[in-house]
Order: sequence, then structure tokens, then C-alpha cells
Amino acid sequence: MEITLSVLKADIGSIGGHIQPSRALADKVLEVVQHKGRKHLLDSRVSWTGDDIAILMTHQQGPGAAVIHEMAWEAFLAGTEVAKLQGLYGAGQDLLSDAFSGNVRGMGPGVAEMRFQERDAEPFVLFAADKTDPGAFNLPLYRAFADPMNTPGLLLSPSLTEGFHFVIMDVAHTGRDRVIELQAPEDLHRIAALLRDPERYVVESIWSRHSGDQAVAASTSRLHNIAGKYTGKDDPVMLVRVQKDFPATGEILAPFSTGHFVAGGMRGSHNMPLMPVPLNAGTSYFDGPPIVTGAAFCVHDGKLTDPVDVFAHPFWDRIRDQVADKAVDMRRQGFFGAAMLPMDELEYTGITTTLDGLDDRFHVRPDGPEPLRQAF
Ligand code: F6R
Ligand code: MG
Ligand code: MG
Repeated sequence: MEITLSVLKADIGSIGGHIQPSRALADKVLEVVQHKGRKHLLDSRVSWTGDDIAILMTHQQGPGAAVIHEMAWEAFLAGTEVAKLQGLYGAGQDLLSDAFSGNVRGMGPGVAEMRFQERDAEPFVLFAADKTDPGAFNLPLYRAFADPMNTPGLLLSPSLTEGFHFVIMDVAHTGRDRVIELQAPEDLHRIAALLRDPERYVVESIWSRHSGDQAVAASTSRLHNIAGKYTGKDDPVMLVRVQKDFPATGEILAPFSTGHFVAGGMRGSHNMPLMPVPLNAGTSYFDGPPIVTGAAFCVHDGKLTDPVDVFAHPFWDRIRDQVADKAVDMRRQGFFGAAMLPMDELEYTGITTTLDGLDDRFHVRPDGPEPLRQAF
């Protein structure tokens, strides 16, 4: 059976700052999805990662279907009403438009969707991250789909040996999407040259060269391109099909043990390591650290199993300890150097005002000795 998997996510309000949504908010989102989805949805799940609510849906309307997007938009609106009633922080923050116009792309929520013919067994993982941006998935995707040091399947399985087709988006480009298609392994160094700059180039999708089937769909929205200014981080979601012609689940999970540094910690303005956490976790230290959850499912005739929490296993406790150490180490250097993002990636623009105010206090020093000009 051909199905479409859609995940739409938004920050529509959370308890205690940017920590996590309330149970009442999540229940309302689920209630609206289930009620409005009676006709079109085969199945659905609602979960959260930090302050972001994700709606996972299976259906047969294809990617970008207005009826599916509108349902999610209405669920987010209803959740926002609960957020307002409860006085939650940032109520409706990611809903950047007043009226639905056919597709939530460009309206604030993040979207990842793919249509495929279900295999006899159809395992996949939904990843969601908070306090970071879509480039956070560049490194794990590169390692899982292009690096035999991470993915032995690239050597051991003839269908994986043929490699993968990467679609990469230039997210700094405004207007129509600017994308490039590259092949691993031939284009490995070109892929790496782009993905090393995760604020600009982001993996949008990955396809098996053996079967032509889609393995990955990731959200690529940059809220500041939509709103014209920063309104919050673009906390990403992605769907990854696993096994057979795709990497094994464990090959996809392994790169998350690095706790790589990503943009988006504290006030959306700091580099912090990405911590794999259990499903429905909130944030804490330094409004973070940036977190990623993974929910593994199988789907058959559009019906989802219960999720398995891939980062709940005791192995990840040790990784979390290591990531916490990296986070504290980075925070030791406060605002200096690599700890804080470059000027054009800061979520706050107040520092520009401060620097502009200092401009006319600079002067060009004349030749020879110069007396101090100000009394102090
Ligand atoms: C992401 C997130 C942050 C905030 C940022 C600014 O989920 O919550 O990126 O957008 O911390 O928030 P304010 O200005 O409300 O402190
Ligand atoms: Mg937030
Ligand atoms: Mg968030």
C-alpha cells in the first residue's frame, strides 16, 4: 500500500519558560487531530521534544496536501488557545500567519513528509530536536549515509554499497528553494564541503541509489527567513526509514553518541552539544542543552505501532554524562569565541544596537603621541 508519512511540529507554548508544553495542550492537539482526521488519516501520534509539539500522521493524500496541513494548523491553533488559557510562555509563537493558505510551509511550523510504497516490514524513526536548527542533522546524516567508518552496511550490503543521493538546500536563500543534488560516494568531498556549514546548507532528503526509494525527509524551515527577523529557533524534525536498502537503525543512531556542537542554545544564540534524551523530555541547563529524541515505529497499512524510545536505553546514560561535561566545559568560556554564535545567527539583535551606539566613540588615532581624550 502507498502511504504518506507527515510530521508537522511547532512551538505553541510551554510551561516554566521554553521547557515543555502542558499535558492539557498536548491532549487538545491530539483531540483535534483525531476528530478532524477521521476522514483522511490512517493513524496519528502526538509527542513533544522540549517546547515543540510534533504531530505524526499517516495518510494517502501525498506530501503537502492542504487537507492534512490544515488539520495540523487547526490543531496547533486549538493548542494555542489552551496555552493562552493556562498562561503558558510563548503561546502560538511559531504560528506566524493569521490565516491558513493551503500549506503550512512558510507559515512557521516545521514539516517533513515522504510518500512510499510500504515494504512488508516498514521500520522508521522520527527524530525531533529542540534548541537548535535543521543543520543539526547534517553530521549524523553524513555519517550514517556516507561514512563506512560509521555504517558497515556501506561495505557489507551490496544495495547500500551503491550509495545514496543527497538533496541539500541552501537555507540562506530567500524566495524559491535553492537546492543541489549530489551522489555519495562520488561527491563525498563536495557533500562534506557543503554540510560543514550547517547554518547555510541543510540535508532536505536522501534517496537509495539502489532502489530509488526515499530514506530521509527533514524539515528545513528557517523562521527568520519567514518573519524577516528571529522569532525562535527552527527546531527540526526528520523521518528516517531504516533496514534493508537503508542503514540499520543502530547505524542511524550511532552518530548521535558524538554530542556534536550545534547552534541554538540559550536565547537561540549559543553553540552547545546535542544531547540524545528520552521521548517527551523537556530542557533545563542553560535553557538546553539542545536535545534530540528518537521514536522508532513500524507501520503497516498506515497503522502505526507504539513508539519505541531509542534513546531510553541505558547505553545513552553514559553519553548524556559525556554531553553534560561538554556543555559545562563550553559554558566555562561564557560569551567568548566559539561559545556564542556569529552576529548574523544571534536570535537577539540587541547587541547590534549596543555596537552601533559605540560607533562614534571610536576614533582613528593620529600620528605621534596622543593624550587620553576622556576623563575617567
Ligand atoms: C527554542 C527556544 C529558543 C527561544 C530563545 C528566545 O525552542 O525556545 O530558541 O526562542 O531562547 O526566547 P526568549 O526571548 O523568550 O527568551
Ligand atoms: Mg522555544
Ligand atoms: Mg523549541
